Parts: sequence; C-alpha cells; structure tokens
Amino acid sequence: MSSSYDLRPSIFGKFINLNYSNKQSNPSFMSFFVIKTLRWGKNYLLSILDGHLIHYPSPLNLTYAWSFGSSAGICLVIQILSGIFLAMHYTPHIDLAFSSVEHIMRDVNNGWLIRYIHANGASMFFIVVYCHIFRGLYYGSYMQPRQLLWCSGVLIFILMMGTAFMGYVLPWGQWVFEVLQ
Ligand code: HEM
Repeated sequence: MSSSYDLRPSIFGKFINLNYSNKQSNPSFMSFFVIKTLRWGKNYLLSILDGHLIHYPSPLNLTYAWSFGSSAGICLVIQILSGIFLAMHYTPHIDLAFSSVEHIMRDVNNGWLIRYIHANGASMFFIVVYCHIFRGLYYGSYMQPRQLLWCSGVLIFILMMGTAFMGYVLPWGQWVFEVLQ
C-alpha cells in the first residue's frame, strides 16, 4: 500500500512513487538498498543524485548502446588529464622533442605509464567513438530532429582526427629525421 511517505517531489515538480510493492516497478537490489536504507530521496541534495542515477527520466527504448557517448566523454577526460601530465615534461623544440619523450619514458616517475595511458587511450577513444557513430547510424540518430547534432558530431570527429595526428607527430620522428640527414 502506498502512503505519502513513498512520494517525494522530484526536481521537475512531479512526484515519483517509491513504493516497491507496486507490481509495475522493477527495482534492482542496489536501488532498493539505496532508496529504502539510505533514504537519499528524502535529502534535497542527494535526491538530485538519485534523480540522475536511479530515477533518471529516459525513453524506454534506449539500450546500453547509448552508453558509448558517456564512455567517449570519460575517454576525453582521461586523454586531457594524461596529456597535461605529459606536457609537464615534454619539450616542444625540434632538437629536444624526441629526447624529452625518452626522458619521460626513462627518468620521470611513472612517466612510461602516463605515456602509454595517453597513447593507448587515444586508440580506445577512437574505438568507442566508432561504436558511438555506428549506434547513431544503426538507430537513425542522424535523422530529423537530430540532424544538427549529427553535424556537430562530424565536426568533433574531424577535430579528433586532427588532434590525434598532431599528438602522433609530437615526438618528431627523430629517427626519420636523422636517416634523411
Ligand atoms: C568526443 C566525442 C563524442 C562525445 C564525448 C559524445 C558524447 C555524446 C553523449 C554523452 C551523448 C548522449 C548519450 C548517447 O546517446 O550516447 C551523445 C549522443 C549523440 N551523439 Fe555523440 N559524442 C561524441 C562524438 C559523436 C560523433 C563523432 C557523432 C556523429 C558523427 C555523434 C553523434 C551523436 C548523436 C546523433 C547523438 C544522439 C543520439 C540519440 O539521441 O539517438 N557524437 N554523444
């Protein structure tokens, strides 16, 4: 039986029924624990978390294929952070660039790890974005009313390719340089 105790105002001003004897709701163990034990739907700030993680309003037909967008976002954050740490030890000079990368690999604490996270992370980023694009093609996300969103995605993809190319030539391929001299 539901009571006013099971209703809480959501940030959109509607009411969400938290009474799980309701046959239509299908709570996971995690959401049951969080809502009934921690009762975070009762706290104003925590209910914002709840509204985004558990009771987030989204169309029923979305599948896990829609996770690739946020995975791409996570990849972007990882690339930016590891890139900032690499830039702390990289020297952008034609004679020093290659040696500074060797310095990162040999002398900087965990520098090799940061470099490999950045280099392999770039490949992972592209794999995730290809899945994201394929999902968009498969489910027709390029069609009206999302055509401009798709165009912005194409722009992002072009920028990604440019960035990856620039990153790839940062060590300045000194071995080629020396062979040609
Ligand atoms: C840095 C790269 C990108 C990031 C971080 C990113 C992020 C996201 C996120 C978080 C979403 C919402 C969740 C989802 O539907 O997966 C989304 C949706 C979407 N993205 Fe991307 N995206 C990226 C690249 C692209 C590219 C390259 C394209 C297409 C060329 C694209 C087209 C779309 C479309 C059409 C949607 C709407 C899907 C729908 O509602 O049916 N995105 N994106």
